[in-house]
Amino acid sequence: MRFVILGGPGAGKGTQAQLLCKYLDIPGISTGDILRDAIAFQTPLGEEAKSYVEKGELIPDPTMIEYIRERLLMEDVSKGWLLDGYPRTAFQAEELDFLLDDLQQHLTWAIWLKVPESVLISRSFARGRQDDQPEIVSRRINLYHERTIPLVEYYDYCRRLLTINGDQTPEKVQQDILNAINH
Ligand code: AP5
Ligand code: MG
Repeated sequence: MRFVILGGPGAGKGTQAQLLCKYLDIPGISTGDILRDAIAFQTPLGEEAKSYVEKGELIPDPTMIEYIRERLLMEDVSKGWLLDGYPRTAFQAEELDFLLDDLQQHLTWAIWLKVPESVLISRSFARGRQDDQPEIVSRRINLYHERTIPLVEYYDYCRRLLTINGDQTPEKVQQDILNAINH
């Protein structure tokens, strides 16, 4: 089973990814968590990513694509995975397709957590991560509209999209995801 979770900042990607990985017993890969750890540990990836993450900008595609290519070739994810926060640009999605072709694998579903913008904003403010300050959240939301929403159309066109109402309790969102993937 191979899933990607799409959604704006605060849509609940991380929350739902954790629940789903546990339920399906598959490894999760969260690019946001990986980048925050890399920054904290001052690895080369972290040094490169720091200024982007701090401003709510996207890390350049070549860096993210290379990271995911190497990560998905590792043994622990050979049987399945769930990506939280990747892909988020057309280029990343295209390269993920190429990689899956090379590996003779296919994406099971792209799960889109659809949440109104006002809710994205209020959830991010309530959480208070370092990149949850108003101007940074609003930049992340703009980038989500500009760069990631087109992927929703792409996965819909490929008939791989599950649209889930993310503006419900986490339990109800999870139930809707499970109902959708079990059908
Ligand atoms: P990332 O960490 O992915 O941030 P994001 O996309 O802005 O999303 P969040 O993690 O803020 O929200 P979430 O959807 O995971 O929601 P959560 O479950 O936490 O990326 C951070 C940065 O890294 C980017 O800005 C960029 O710089 C860089 N980056 C990452 N991936 C990249 C890539 N592929 N390419 C380039 N750059 C990349 O929930 C949010 C809050 O709401 C929590 O407090 C939670 O408890 C609460 N909540 C969750 N669900 C519900 C619910 N159903 N009801 C009520 N509250 C809820
Ligand atoms: Mg997250």
